[in-house]
Order: sequence, then C-alpha cells, then structure tokens
Amino acid sequence: MADDPQREDTRRSGATLRAASVSRAFDGVQALREVTLELHRKEIVGLIGPNGAGKSTLVNVLTGFDYPDAGTVELAGRCITRWSPHRRGRHGLARTFQHSRSFRELTVRENVEVAALGSGAGVREARRRADDLLERLSLTQYSSAPAGSLSHGDERRLGVARALATEPRFVLMDEPAAGLPEAEVPDFAAVVRSVRDEHGAGVLLIDHNMALVMEVCDRIQVLDHGATLAEGDPREIRANLDVAAAYLGDSAVHEDAS
Ligand SMILES: Nc1ncnc2c1ncn2[C@@H]1O[C@H](COP(=O)(O)OP(=O)(O)OP(=O)(O)O)[C@@H](O)[C@H]1O
Ligand SMILES: [Mg+2]
Repeated sequence: MADDPQREDTRRSGATLRAASVSRAFDGVQALREVTLELHRKEIVGLIGPNGAGKSTLVNVLTGFDYPDAGTVELAGRCITRWSPHRRGRHGLARTFQHSRSFRELTVRENVEVAALGSGAGVREARRRADDLLERLSLTQYSSAPAGSLSHGDERRLGVARALATEPRFVLMDEPAAGLPEAEVPDFAAVVRSVRDEHGAGVLLIDHNMALVMEVCDRIQVLDHGATLAEGDPREIRANLDVAAAYLGDSAVHEDAS
C-alpha cells in the first residue's frame, strides 16, 4: 500500500488521523495495549475483533470521548490527545455510536438538520443535506417521525446520517449496520463507499458483518484483547488463520476451506 502514489500523497500532506501506541485500562481490564492505527483520507479501514476486544474504546480515544493512559492521538500531525470531542468535530472528525445518541423527541429529519447546523451549515443547506442523506440511507419514509420511534437498525443509520451531515473529513462508524436486514446491506455499502469516493473522507468501519467489512474495506486491522492481532487487506486478513480462529470461528475456517 505504501507504493500507492495517491495514498502516499495524502500521507505526506498530513491528512491523517492517527492513534500512536495508545493504551487504556478500566479497573484492571486492559482495554487497549499499545495500539497504533492510521486512517488516511480517501480510504475505508475496517476495525474488527471479538466482543470486548477494545474497538469502541479505540473510537472513544480517537474522538475525544475518552483519553488514553499512554500514547497519543494525532490529526494532520498535531497532537490532539486532550482535545474535546467538540473541538475535534470542528476539525472534521465525526462518529456514530454503538448505542443511541439521537434526540428522541425530535423528528428524524430534525436530528440530521441539527447535526448539519452544528457543523456550520445554513438552514437551507441543512435541509438539503438531511433530505439527501435520509434518501440515501433509506430513511425518507420516517422523516417526520420522532427519532425515538425508530427500530434499532434504522436508528443506527440515523446515527450515520447525523455524522455525515457534518461533511466530515474522517468518520468513525461503530457497528452502523447492526440490525440491518441482509437485503439492505448492499445499499449501505454503497453509502460507505460514496463517503470515500465522493467526499474524499477517511472511514473507520467497525462491524460484525464480515461480508460487509470484507467487501468495502481497503485495509483491515484486527484487535484481540486490546492488542493488534493482524493488519492487511481483506484477502490477507481472510487468509490469516490466527484471525479466523480468534474471530471468525472454526466453522468459518472450514467454510472458507470448502
Ligand atoms: N467505561 C468502562 N468501564 C469499565 N470497563 C470498560 C469501559 N469501557 C470498556 N470497558 C471494558 O473494556 C473492554 C473493551 O471494551 P470495548 O467496548 O472497547 O470492546 P468492543 O471491541 O467495542 O466490544 P463489542 O464488540 O462488544 O462492542 C471490555 O472488557 C469492556 O468491558
Ligand atoms: Mg463496541
């Protein structure tokens, strides 16, 4: 990947979000152990690993919702380890949450508009972004419904719409496709690709849907017990039997081999 000229340009221009050797412990649980992760613009990086591997903790540390005990977070070469989430947002970082953070009493459309307004868009532009995103994320039919009435899967995609409404440079998605019917996964994959291809953003995608992760990601990093177990492109990760044993399970290994 180092020989991809476009990516090398991006790296030199400093348009990179980087966690460098971050560690974080909670009451004796070592959630992260010297994890280094780089996210460049115009790429989709998958972050996978079993439950409790440290994925959400890493997203929290990258977005300012938690601070590491050791290590640093850098944006375009600047140390942002102690910046608030709000300040990071103003510099183009957005995220989705594994658990709902929508305004339940506001309508679905208002939730997206509020996110756009918060990033500096005018009223008309906020409305345009909301309508566009709700359409692309198959949420238009719920535009006028209170966000609190959405199903779990629809609520996840509302979180994605809210994050994208800020037109981020980097967006970190924590299990955005959980609860999504299998038939709707291809449309969701297209949205994730468009964030990279049309908006030039860097996307970090956490998901347990391996088909989705393998299909859309340029690179994948695997966490296990808070440490990086493997890194590579989807083909390399698929071929890595250590990863398969730790995460995909023996049945997946047998299925792959058959
Ligand atoms: N605020 C917290 N207080 C105490 N322990 C925590 C806290 N946050 C995370 N942990 C612990 O840190 C470890 C990593 O948790 P994390 O939520 O990052 O895992 P994950 O990879 O996102 O898992 P999942 O796939 O279930 O979402 C787990 O053992 C978890 O119980
Ligand atoms: Mg998690």
